[in-house]
Amino acid sequence: MEIARNNQELEKILANYKLNNPKDTIGFVPTMGALHAGHMSLVNHAKNSVNFLVTSIFVNPTQFNEASDLKKYPRTESADIELLSAHNCDIVYIPSVEDIYPNKNSNYSINLKGLDKVMEGKYRDDHFNGVCMVVERLFELVKPDFAFFGKKDFQQVAIINHMVTERGLNINVISCPIKRELSGLAMSSRNTLMSEFERGQATIISQALNAGVVAYQTGFKIDRVKETILSIFYRGSLKLEYLEIIDNETLQEVTELNDNCTVCIAAYCGSVRLIDNFQFYRHS
Ligand code: PAJ
Repeated sequence: MEIARNNQELEKILANYKLNNPKDTIGFVPTMGALHAGHMSLVNHAKNSVNFLVTSIFVNPTQFNEASDLKKYPRTESADIELLSAHNCDIVYIPSVEDIYPNKNSNYSINLKGLDKVMEGKYRDDHFNGVCMVVERLFELVKPDFAFFGKKDFQQVAIINHMVTERGLNINVISCPIKRELSGLAMSSRNTLMSEFERGQATIISQALNAGVVAYQTGFKIDRVKETILSIFYRGSLKLEYLEIIDNETLQEVTELNDNCTVCIAAYCGSVRLIDNFQFYRHS
């Protein structure tokens, strides 16, 4: 695996590869590091779908609302490099802030048609503007044919899909399933910020959401499904930020449930903010 620590190194490796393999497909997995099996599931998925894989590690300052959150974001670079190498990633790209944002005062804006105003957007001002800003810039540098994102960040994938269409980019966005701990807890870099006890407490999230999906399959209407979820959630000690049942495309809250809906949640376990979601489906 090659390591590119700036744009010039990345360009050189990519140009050389393309010269020798002009027909090959380039895949891209953008990350903020502190890699875990959830990220690796994207890497594996990508390795099975493309010829050459670039993974980036960049803790993007423009998507954090609080300086303290940015500061405490876990950073485990050497372990990340080892993990990526063991999973046969071809290039790890670890740019500096200057590589990504050479013009400090440049304004970035994109019309996200309200997709950024719901759920995470209500609580994290400008978060998705920052995500689109960095992902668009990374796309420009890596020039992938396929880019892989996790459904763990359900709203993020919808927004990236929208951004790609809005900007007319020729990139296939592939969304990959959520990887969970055996306990059901969705894997996240933030899980390392919780104590063992808190991690146990946090499993109430997936238990509650899963019970909601089962309630739907039993034939319950949306209000009963929500009640089911909340009654389980409040058996635990987490603090709820939002629970929304939304349409998969518009991300707007629905009044009736069908197989095109997802329940999304954000909650605090101690000081750690966790998000998760389950898609509704019936047994075929
Ligand atoms: P990060 O949180 O590091 O996540 C990188 C990618 O891994 C995202 O697409 C995310 O959805 C996916 N991922 C994280 N946990 C996962 C899990 N348990 N199962 C499956 N996929 C999982 O998301 C970001 O970084 C940033 O916003 C980024 C897109 C890199 C832009 O800065």
